[in-house]
Amino acid sequence: MCGIVGYVGSRDATPLLVNGLRRLEYRGYDSAGVAIQENGGLEIRRAEGKLDNLVRVIAERPLSGRSGIGHTRWATHGRPSEQNAHPHVDCGAVTAVIHNGIIENFHDLKAPLVEAGHRFSSETDTEVVVHLVEQELAQGRTLDEAALRVLPQLEGAAALAFISVKDPGKIVAARISNAGAVIVGYGEGESFIASDIPALLEHTRRMSFLDPGELAVVTATGVTFRRLEDGAPVEKAVQDIQWDLVSAAKSGYKHFMLKEIYEQPRVVSDTLIGRVERESGRVAFDDDLKLTDAQVKGLRRLTLLGCGTAGYAALAGKYLIERLARIPCDVEIPSEYRYREPVVVPDQLVVALTQSGETVDTLAAMQEAKRQGARLLSFVNVMGSQATRLSDDVIYLHAGPEISVASTKAYTAMLVDLYLFAIFLGQRRGTLGKEKAAKLLADAFHLPTLIDALLQEEPRIRALAYRYHQARDFLFLGRGMNYPTALEGAHKLKELSYSHAEGTAAGEMKHGINALIDESLPVVAIALQDSTYRKMRSNIQEVRARAGVVIALASDGDEEIEGQADEIVRVPDTNELLSPALAVLPLHLFAYHVADRRGNDVDQPRNLAKSVTVE
Ligand code: F6R
Repeated sequence: MCGIVGYVGSRDATPLLVNGLRRLEYRGYDSAGVAIQENGGLEIRRAEGKLDNLVRVIAERPLSGRSGIGHTRWATHGRPSEQNAHPHVDCGAVTAVIHNGIIENFHDLKAPLVEAGHRFSSETDTEVVVHLVEQELAQGRTLDEAALRVLPQLEGAAALAFISVKDPGKIVAARISNAGAVIVGYGEGESFIASDIPALLEHTRRMSFLDPGELAVVTATGVTFRRLEDGAPVEKAVQDIQWDLVSAAKSGYKHFMLKEIYEQPRVVSDTLIGRVERESGRVAFDDDLKLTDAQVKGLRRLTLLGCGTAGYAALAGKYLIERLARIPCDVEIPSEYRYREPVVVPDQLVVALTQSGETVDTLAAMQEAKRQGARLLSFVNVMGSQATRLSDDVIYLHAGPEISVASTKAYTAMLVDLYLFAIFLGQRRGTLGKEKAAKLLADAFHLPTLIDALLQEEPRIRALAYRYHQARDFLFLGRGMNYPTALEGAHKLKELSYSHAEGTAAGEMKHGINALIDESLPVVAIALQDSTYRKMRSNIQEVRARAGVVIALASDGDEEIEGQADEIVRVPDTNELLSPALAVLPLHLFAYHVADRRGNDVDQPRNLAKSVTVE
């Protein structure tokens, strides 16, 4: 949440910052702003709402300079407004700050500042920091020394960056806690900061990632790192980031979400490549996974963690792992796990699923598990993100940059990686025979072709979405492997279309949900020809008996279902365990087209943001 960017070098900073913000807008779009050092002064432009509003303000009152910082906001403290937009400045408007996160003790810090005569012009928690820095600069300290004195006073979560005309040609950036990544990018005679990789790809692939408790002093000629605790210097590795700019651009699609849905055949192929040993037919994750065979054999319990969509992938993971590897698994909501004094047993593996690797609830739950002695494995898309650094083992999702707030291709990558992981565990624990594993893997290698075929159905799914786009409520039903798919289908429809949607295990209907059914309720039933098929067919009958409208996801070639549903969407056949990676695709497309038909902003749904770095 909230995007931060910064530039120092010899080029005009304004367009670079605006372009960087454009690539980060998915992190927050309540307001945007830039602060530029210009002719010994500081110029600020800010605007409420989306980045285009800021672009208009800059066009009316242009500004230029060789260094600056920019911000796109997801509001926490203080309503979305120009006044609350970042950057915030001190009393003399010579120092500016941008911030991602929440400063929990800002009231306590603000009172003495107000008493000392500091004038505040926003309702934000952030502004207090720049006034504290102002006091330190007034003592003749450099910007980094001032930040090193101020930042340890802050409680809560924060990634921050400062510039000041009192210490020109420098950006000081810091990461206080898990919340909010800070990435430094190295150019030729110029340096950058950003809260996410796509903002920097246009300029450099060479990047370093701040760990919590670290500060970077960024100038055109180099970057130094220090520890917040005691100011000690820190050596940081420079990483070469493989993502390319094309994969972070819309490439002719109307929205990133649609593009990301269409990338899935490629994503699944990339996920599978190199992960099956040719000779033995065994799944291997190479360097990513250091768990030894003995450790795998000794595992007594797995706990899977994930928020929102990643949480539904975790649930699918539980079903897969219990079926193939016979290890008891729990799925936990990270924000609950963290606070409810969970029990960790010896030989327990905690598995975190997170596209961004920066979701603060997930990180906090991981830390709690680690504190209690669990081994941590994470499935993460973003290289270098905090989850990867907290974990003992990492399985990287090969999804490429996911820009749309609604997660699609990363969800599919999680499902396929969990499928591989369950096979991996089954093979090592001896619960999965050679022949069965070979069949499961052959099906996986056929998946990209099936996804391609299913994508051809988009016009039909669009027509369906247009027919039902005005419905106020939807119900999604699934069983077994596709119970998580039902939850994900409802989740996506809610977040994009703003209609109410509920996902449930179809067996639960009779325990209460049946009361909702009438002729105005579209019910999406995932009724593939698997081990739950007969039961799903009965559930469909129950809905029809109560006049509900049934939209069935049915297997290709299932003739029995003809005439049993109002609408039928065909899904190509694969094995039951892999079917969620196919069944979810029409549901993602349905949510996309309902939202688009309603005129909603598909890539940036209201009140949401990518990378949820607040609790
Ligand atoms: C749904 C969505 C969110 C995220 C959730 C976890 O489309 O985008 O529910 O899945 O915030 O995010 P990550 O995977 O980055 O931890």
